[in-house]
Amino acid sequence: MTISWHSDPSRVDWDQLSEFYRIAPLGDKSAHELQLVFGNSRFTCFAHDGDRLVGAGRAVTDGLDFSYICDVAVHPRFQGQGLGKRIVRTLMEQSEGHKKIILYANPGKEAFYAKLGFKMMNTAMAIFRDDAAAMRAGFVREAPDHGTDSLRNLDAKHRRFVEERNWQRHQSPKNLVMALVGEAGELTEHFQWLSQEASKRLDAEKKQAVAKEMADVLIYLTRLAGELDIDLVAAAHEKCDENDRKYPKEEFQGEYRRPDQYKRRIFRILLPFEKFSLI
Ligand SMILES: CC(C)(COP(=O)(O)OP(=O)(O)OC[C@H]1O[C@@H](n2cnc3c(N)ncnc32)[C@H](O)[C@@H]1OP(=O)(O)O)[C@@H](O)C(=O)NCCC(=O)NCCS
Repeated sequence: MTISWHSDPSRVDWDQLSEFYRIAPLGDKSAHELQLVFGNSRFTCFAHDGDRLVGAGRAVTDGLDFSYICDVAVHPRFQGQGLGKRIVRTLMEQSEGHKKIILYANPGKEAFYAKLGFKMMNTAMAIFRDDAAAMRAGFVREAPDHGTDSLRNLDAKHRRFVEERNWQRHQSPKNLVMALVGEAGELTEHFQWLSQEASKRLDAEKKQAVAKEMADVLIYLTRLAGELDIDLVAAAHEKCDENDRKYPKEEFQGEYRRPDQYKRRIFRILLPFEKFSLI
């Protein structure tokens, strides 16, 4: 296989490029659209096998701050042979000097870009003309509310602390659960011999110590959620709604029993003789 490379849009057959993206597959892009967007791109890269177009990519840049790599694709018959890597590397070399090179990957292609040095962006956001289609394709999700956002920031901070000390290998979900329970135990110690009343009146020093234990619990819980890719705030909201349904306020005024115990009590009232009781 002899592949020839160039970066000259004037040599491109736009109908061929359109057909190439359709089979890559990278979506339906008309010849006219492609001529426009490649024409407006600062850097382009094309690979040919004879007359056949087998790879392409482009980058839009502002000349200093950022270069945005997009439309990278390799013909299916030529994938897995290093062409994709070469296209991205070429565009990266051409983008040298920019403060950042950005892109968004097709879902499932993240590892391809990670091998070339790209990292996930924490705060990348987008508005798509067809928002619903972008959601369905997995490019975007609803922005998290402030609560989730601050938990994510907290987790990122703790993760950084862990990574700087090369402790990641200790942060398995199993270890994190155990650490969480340990910290919850330390929190309990502050209260275990206090009366109900005394537990409501902590002095400043005690309160500070309790706050530290609560912080440890929160840190391990958010770390665990991060490790398991669980949206903690969304899960907590869901649980609150579930509790609301499970314990209707009309039935559970002042009651701390579980719903099954509550039902048992009603049965006992209805069937006062123990030997006839079904439960
Ligand atoms: C994604 C794509 C461009 C990769 O091109 P390619 O020529 O097949 O990739 P390469 O052969 O250059 O692979 C480079 C490395 O990435 C790895 N890789 C390629 N695709 C990968 C994937 N989907 N997941 C993980 N790793 C991948 C290869 O194993 C190779 O690893 P190595 O360097 O350790 O050997 C190509 O599969 C493609 O065109 N897909 C359809 C269109 C598309 O989704 N484009 C991406 C838009 S974001």
